[in-house]
Amino acid sequence: MSDATTPPLIIAPSLLAANFTRLGAEVQRVNRTSAAWLHLDIMDGHFVPNISFGPAVVKAVRPLSKLTFDVHLMCAKPDILLEPFAKAGADRMNIHVELGAQVVGQLIWKIRSLGKQVGLAIDPPTSMSALKPHLEQADSVLIMTVNPGFGGQEFITECLTKIQQAAAWRDELGLRYRIGVDGGIHYNTVASCAAAGADTFISGTALFEHNHLRAAVTKMHKLAEAAVVK
Ligand code: DX5
Ligand code: ZN
Repeated sequence: MSDATTPPLIIAPSLLAANFTRLGAEVQRVNRTSAAWLHLDIMDGHFVPNISFGPAVVKAVRPLSKLTFDVHLMCAKPDILLEPFAKAGADRMNIHVELGAQVVGQLIWKIRSLGKQVGLAIDPPTSMSALKPHLEQADSVLIMTVNPGFGGQEFITECLTKIQQAAAWRDELGLRYRIGVDGGIHYNTVASCAAAGADTFISGTALFEHNHLRAAVTKMHKLAEAAVVK
């Protein structure tokens, strides 16, 4: 349920879909939109079958933007990466609950000790019970709406119930974490996510394919806002 305390909706373009031959200009293009966050996908070739970029790239683009840098660690050993990404300019680090409760607990503590925000990501096949024990320590949850590893995949509709569950738990437990969705977020999928309770929309392909990124972000924002259940 949405009320006066509902956080403003956030669109977070995913840099994975940008033109890598001119990353700096792409980040500046995002700056000129109503997006509040920039999503940075880190893939290690182990946790997911793809490799993206590392802290050096985040550090290089950090001075170009005041946006919140939302780093998504799709990595088997995030413990060795938290400090490098914190130093590179991450504001929030999303770790995956698939790493197991004990590891996640340690990672949360380390992210906090680095002074960064904690995001908890969950893959489509993973039960929400893996997320629940950590909710009190989360600034945001990231419901994966594709199996991570690649941009441009099709939205998995079955994940909508997980968004609803995350929203229901937030109400029940009196918590304030944001609810993000990541993967296959297009004009035709954003509304159902917003209606289910998502407030943060990570989108790569659907935004960067447009020459007018600002207009694309605005359109997605409006579609989400119109769908929020008041
Ligand atoms: C998927 C990544 C996503 C990806 C989304 O593994 O975590 O953030 O960039 O890309 P689109 O919006 O193209 O599905
Ligand atoms: Zn991501």
